[in-house]
Amino acid sequence: MKKTDIKNTNRRNFLKKIILFLFGAEAAFLVFDFFNGNKKENVEPEDLYEAGHTHDFEPGRIYPFTSGKFYIYKFDDGGIIAISYRCTHLGCTINYSESDKRFICPCHASAFNIKGEVLSPPATRPLDMLPVYIKNGIVKVDINHPKKRKRFERSQLVYG
Ligand code: FES
Repeated sequence: MKKTDIKNTNRRNFLKKIILFLFGAEAAFLVFDFFNGNKKENVEPEDLYEAGHTHDFEPGRIYPFTSGKFYIYKFDDGGIIAISYRCTHLGCTINYSESDKRFICPCHASAFNIKGEVLSPPATRPLDMLPVYIKNGIVKVDINHPKKRKRFERSQLVYG
């Protein structure tokens, strides 16, 4: 065996060991993340805004929560969403127009539908959604962790 062959064999073995190590590390990470991730989903964040009982909300109506800076909307099928007051264009406070069934920004006239999706610009992405937790019929909103949505991201409803 030539000296260069021995070098190549050593290099190949070394690369194999590195690849095996990386696969092992990745597998260990995935297992850890799976168990840790499942644990996180079941934990309710602290400092939730208690909005009321699910029975307090009539389907098809908007409920403003000025101190929490969000709106709650309950759909006919019982799904509930919490939408931030903050316009995604430059951050003005949006208003809800009952006659038009839409949110309108007083600053530059962006409009959003009941799910917070853009109806007219200059805003280019939907209103932020706030995570909703329903436990024993009580609706709680996580006002500290708004979820930014991309332009075409759909709204997710929460059911009690
Ligand atoms: S801040 Fe709302 S449209 Fe500009």
